Amino acid sequence: MSLVCVLNGPNLNRLGQRQPEIYGTESLDQIITQLHARAEALGLALDARQSNHEGHLVDWLHEAGDRGALAVILNAGALAHSSIALRDAILSISTPVIEVHLSNPAAREGFRHQSHIAPVAWGVIQGFGGLSYMLALDAAASLRQGAAR
Ligand code: DQA
Repeated sequence: MSLVCVLNGPNLNRLGQRQPEIYGTESLDQIITQLHARAEALGLALDARQSNHEGHLVDWLHEAGDRGALAVILNAGALAHSSIALRDAILSISTPVIEVHLSNPAAREGFRHQSHIAPVAWGVIQGFGGLSYMLALDAAASLRQGAAR
């Protein structure tokens, strides 16, 4: 069974309480529960994690690559806008990475307009709340058929 790793960065453990007018009222656990159901329907194994520490995300990207994961769904939170280490970690593995955001950073403050991850990601899905993750999972599933880049 193909594996999809879902990696979440800083402050995403606060979803549901954190700026609900921007990020909605669903908790990360609720989103992940829905993702598990969808993964099962798609015949995918899911490994979902969250950390507030950049190094954990770097280690988990390496691990996903070493495990031969089909894809990584990555919401790096604010690290998307600042972390060269995460960008380099993505470049160090052959697993495709799908960048996701609940909000649409392009429609927010200027400092959120740049993502260091987007140029090295397989694709980016942002602005759909929890649905961003579902759409990313469907995109990951399509990689089994060797989707074109
Ligand atoms: C976010 C967008 C980032 O700009 C922000 O720092 C986050 C959440 C999102 O999912 O919309 O922490 O990644």
